[in-house]
Amino acid sequence: MVQKQVSDMITGVWRIKWWKYRYFLIAGLLANILLINRFYFDQSITDLNPFRSPSTDIKLENPAASAPSKDQAHPPPPPPSASPSPNAPTYTAIPLTAYPGAPTSSAKLFNLQDYDFNGDYVGWPLERVCHETTWTPGLIYACDNNSGGIGNIRNFILSCLRYGIETGATGIIMPRIQRRHDDDLANLFNAGFKPFDYFFDEEHFRSVMSTYCPQMVIYNSLEDVPHKDNLMNIDEYYPKDLADGDCCDNRGANKHLDVYRGKFENWLNTTRRTPNATHPVSIRYRWAMFFEWPIYRDGPEFAATFGDVLRLNKEVESLAVKTLDEMAKFVGVQPDPTHTKFEAPFLGVHLRTESDALGFWPDFNVQTEGYMKQAEARELKHAYLACGNATDGHRFGEMAYEKLKLNTTSKLDLLKGDDLKRLTDLTWDQQALVDFLVLTKSAHFTGCSFSSFTMNIAFKRHLMTGGLFTRPWKSPGDPYSTLVGRFDSWYGDWMFMYECMWP
Ligand SMILES: *[C@@H]1O[C@H](CO)[C@@H](O)[C@H](O)[C@H]1NC(C)=O
Ligand SMILES: *[C@@H]1O[C@H](CO)[C@@H](O)[C@H](O)[C@H]1NC(C)=O
Ligand SMILES: *[C@@H]1O[C@H](CO)[C@@H](O)[C@H](O)[C@H]1NC(C)=O
Ligand SMILES: *[C@@H]1O[C@H](CO)[C@@H](O)[C@H](O)[C@H]1NC(C)=O
Ligand SMILES: *[C@@H]1O[C@H](CO)[C@@H](O)[C@H](O)[C@H]1NC(C)=O
Repeated sequence: MVQKQVSDMITGVWRIKWWKYRYFLIAGLLANILLINRFYFDQSITDLNPFRSPSTDIKLENPAASAPSKDQAHPPPPPPSASPSPNAPTYTAIPLTAYPGAPTSSAKLFNLQDYDFNGDYVGWPLERVCHETTWTPGLIYACDNNSGGIGNIRNFILSCLRYGIETGATGIIMPRIQRRHDDDLANLFNAGFKPFDYFFDEEHFRSVMSTYCPQMVIYNSLEDVPHKDNLMNIDEYYPKDLADGDCCDNRGANKHLDVYRGKFENWLNTTRRTPNATHPVSIRYRWAMFFEWPIYRDGPEFAATFGDVLRLNKEVESLAVKTLDEMAKFVGVQPDPTHTKFEAPFLGVHLRTESDALGFWPDFNVQTEGYMKQAEARELKHAYLACGNATDGHRFGEMAYEKLKLNTTSKLDLLKGDDLKRLTDLTWDQQALVDFLVLTKSAHFTGCSFSSFTMNIAFKRHLMTGGLFTRPWKSPGDPYSTLVGRFDSWYGDWMFMYECMWP
């Protein structure tokens, strides 16, 4: 099984030099995110974050210093610190009103200080991209060969949809989610499929697609596709397989999306699989087709909004609201009974040391040091910790309290009674969705730079810097989030995570 998947990935990604990367491939297979080459811990323990802190080291525990004006859709960035470290990135988000003639938008895509996890839905960028497409009757996409945690699964489904729009797919199968094994977190397969609403809000997805991209019809399964008796299934498809003309390997496909559709059609035509209305063809991707579509090629407005087609389901949202109420009390703030404002400053931490973490990722000590640095710089005294590893979670809590008097809690400590039962009735990956939402509302968020879960939270919060016109993320952080962990280079160009993740 493992061997088979390794070889699948190899043939898809590196036809020629695969042997050079074989150990990474095996490691990558065991992870729920896949990464990187040449990762060395050759730095002294005192300089753990090679990117240093963002230039905006504001103190957050004092609400007067941190609270952005409540009436503003996009609060202005906090002022840069007086003495930024010499190599710190000079990140400043200047509101568009500073540029005469620049377009502005009043859409609130995200706000830290409320209980709304999604913000306004903005559908016109999707509508525009769908209008620009020439649609192909009979071409159907089945976006279900995904697995792992929320960061990977979101990107798999979104990438699959985006390729579907690009190639004019007039039908998609309602995406499904592969369940992870409960007792073996690294086993991402074989536990069967769950429906879309295992993670997501199905009603929202259907309504968005039918309103803004009605050319692409949703079918519940391949059985429901018109003329299914003539249906030809193409499984294990991998878009980069179509790249040719690059001298040595096929990774350049990432940069050739402008010619992708022609290549794709030519491939169908020359293999006698041209779909038409009465002879449909379905495409299903090979696993690990994600982080492949550089999001900014569709313009900032599409980059900022496309991901919002996938919202988490109502049960997860409701548990996150309960958890935030308890978190407010933990911080010493009376929760807003109307659930409008959320004003309890806490540090959000994602400690990524579960058993499926890869050996070359930052370990417990590296992560802990980095996170505590953020607590200290921002003078936060309370932390919400997401960590699937209970032993390490407690270890972190003890160290943080001992060193900084940082009082740490988690969803399992905060929720009580029926709410706790509702939480523990969920699977491991579903429980993590509650963390995902709670962490998006932290005053400052910090997590492991290798985790797509961490990155997704940081990217969502990054929308605060510019709304529809948000500029691309730059590591290690922005005024709202800081990624911890060192890397020298991404693994070839396989994982364009920073460029290919829709918030
Ligand atoms: C493939 O065939 C279809 C239907 O005949 C045609 O419309 C399309 O232009 C062809 N595409 C390419 C790239 O040859
Ligand atoms: C649709 O495709 C099938 C199979 O390739 C072909 O036999 C049929 O003639 C096509 N129909 C039209 C209307 O082009
Ligand atoms: C899903 O992906 C895996 C790994 O690439 C592959 O072995 C499997 O055949 C794919 N499933 C389908 C139905 O394409
Ligand atoms: C941490 O916070 C909780 C809840 O506010 C409080 O009961 C507890 O005493 C605090 N722990 C310490 C060590 O201060
Ligand atoms: C927790 O992390 C430790 C190392 O930090 C590891 O040895 C252990 O297997 C992990 N446990 C789980 C349940 O992930």
